[in-house]
Amino acid sequence: MTAMLKVDSLTRNFGGLAALRDLSFEVHPGQIVGLIGPNGAGKTTAFNVISGTLPPSSGAVHFKGRDISGGPPSSVVRLGLARTFQSTSIYPKATVGQNVYRGALSRLRTPMVAQLLGTAPHRGNLRALDDEVELVIDLMGLARHRDTVAGTLPYGLQKRLGVAIGLATQPEMLLLDEPAAGLNPEESAEFGRLLRALRDQRKLTLLLVEHHMALVMGVCDHIVVLVQGQKIAEGTASEVRDNPAVIEAYLGAPEEAHA
Ligand SMILES: Nc1ncnc2c1ncn2[C@@H]1O[C@H](COP(=O)(O)OP(=O)(O)OP(=O)(O)O)[C@@H](O)[C@H]1O
Ligand SMILES: [Mg+2]
Repeated sequence: MTAMLKVDSLTRNFGGLAALRDLSFEVHPGQIVGLIGPNGAGKTTAFNVISGTLPPSSGAVHFKGRDISGGPPSSVVRLGLARTFQSTSIYPKATVGQNVYRGALSRLRTPMVAQLLGTAPHRGNLRALDDEVELVIDLMGLARHRDTVAGTLPYGLQKRLGVAIGLATQPEMLLLDEPAAGLNPEESAEFGRLLRALRDQRKLTLLLVEHHMALVMGVCDHIVVLVQGQKIAEGTASEVRDNPAVIEAYLGAPEEAHA
């Protein structure tokens, strides 16, 4: 099986600090892969490089066989790879519906002239866009909040809106940076079921950064463990959980410290 995402010997330096060191891993179609590690391990940096926000210092990222190293992010999104942000990146003054619509627009390819002239294909695109926005809002359980100003939503729902914005770009693969931060264990379990449903019903491939270990262990097919920019282990939940290097990394920095 060919990889959907292939991260190949990525290194990213910030001055003298190596935030990523020679990181390689693959994500296959339909997988939910977890990327875990203590604070500062380089998880968000990995997302920034994969999504084209940051160029790698060396190494490469391939998505569906194409070299996407260095972005730009807009092209990466159009190829079908979307990401959410660790800090929510919603427009706080716009409604939930408007926020999701913005996500949907970022995938639209109609040339500007057709948009201005309102040509038939473009009107068709817009109808498809409306349908997609409604679908995503329903899927993410945000229908009741469609007309709510996003900045007034509780934090957990703002994170869910971030996922909805990513989904509205109709990605084949979605990178989620701590989507369950701030959720209680029950909400986190519900979120895990939602991720599985996205994978099963929308054939989505997911790469998940998360500190909620119960969620990661319960939902991921494969887990990559980063410590100080380096991969120290990868495998299934039980393989990773029983790995002495992983146990040591986490005993040195208990999970509570990351909440
Ligand atoms: N733009 C930047 N400039 C300089 N240093 C950075 C930058 N971004 C990240 N770093 C550093 O790179 C290292 C990795 O940070 P990163 O945010 O990727 O970690 P993380 O695994 O996402 O951590 P957390 O779990 O706290 O979100 C840290 O030491 C951080 O301070
Ligand atoms: Mg981070």
